[in-house]
Amino acid sequence: MTTSQRPTAWQDLLSFGRSVRLALSSPETRAKRAYEIFPPSTWTALNDHSSYLNFGYWRSEADTLDDACQALAEKLADAAGFQEGDRILDAGFGYGDQDFMWLERHNPAKIVGLNVTPTHVQIAQAKARERGLSDRLIFQEGSATAMTFEPSSFDRVVALESALHFRPREEFFRQAHHILRPGGVLATADILPLNDYSREDLFSPTVPRENWHDGNEYLARLRSAGFVNARLTSIRTHVYEQWCRWAERKLDAPEFQQNATWGYRRWLHRELADDTRMRRRFANMDYVIVVAEKPM
Ligand SMILES: C[S@@+](CC[C@H](N)C(=O)[O-])C[C@H]1O[C@@H](n2cnc3c(N)ncnc32)[C@H](O)[C@@H]1O
Repeated sequence: MTTSQRPTAWQDLLSFGRSVRLALSSPETRAKRAYEIFPPSTWTALNDHSSYLNFGYWRSEADTLDDACQALAEKLADAAGFQEGDRILDAGFGYGDQDFMWLERHNPAKIVGLNVTPTHVQIAQAKARERGLSDRLIFQEGSATAMTFEPSSFDRVVALESALHFRPREEFFRQAHHILRPGGVLATADILPLNDYSREDLFSPTVPRENWHDGNEYLARLRSAGFVNARLTSIRTHVYEQWCRWAERKLDAPEFQQNATWGYRRWLHRELADDTRMRRRFANMDYVIVVAEKPM
């Protein structure tokens, strides 16, 4: 299975049906349904080659979205302090691109990926099989808030732009604490409101109300889950504006036109058009890297 299949009018119709289903679905199933609305080729239509699903960490004007997504994944790996031989849990892995990169660059013993979206799991599993890596990259369907791993199963737990969806995020913190070994590290790349920005203004219905709080509260919730040395760094000045500029440049590119469904193109055009709705939303949002440790 690949992520680059040309969308058809039929897929637009399917997306429409799936958006209606999303609007009617229970809060528990929203994240999974949201990522099934569009075909994979649409979700990754702004990327050149990769299939990352994050906003990226932009270091220079010359960066592409692929570069930025990879840099964000590396920033998270640095924050988590990946070491050779680590057992890593990646909660909410998308199509798994970062896991293939981390395996190659950091040589962990294994990476277990957990994801609620069946298509994401199938695509990542197929890529691992094709590359003969299924014994060290283990992609599973499941929720980051319903984990059944044994205590001390992992040295690091990471969530790359996914914990905002977890219902609620603090349940993930509690479970991550349980499955980490003493001295293990939890690290997230995550999205938060900057001030009292209302969740209702956010475009995604997939962010639970209880996750929409500021950074101090984020750290407090980590501490009450048992973590110590919890710290948060804002990287927002390297994220949103650069992503908007990239998306604006891509809107009229033939590859984007070819790979994204009509509905998605129309939505993104509107979001980035004159009233720059998207930029106004981003002005109220932080983007953070957060790290915390389980005590020895
Ligand atoms: C914005 S995407 C980020 C994907 C990937 N980390 C990346 O950077 O490309 C969020 C991911 O979180 C997953 N997700 C949402 N809720 C989840 C949950 N409760 N448990 C596990 N994964 C979840 C989604 O299916 C999606 O793959």
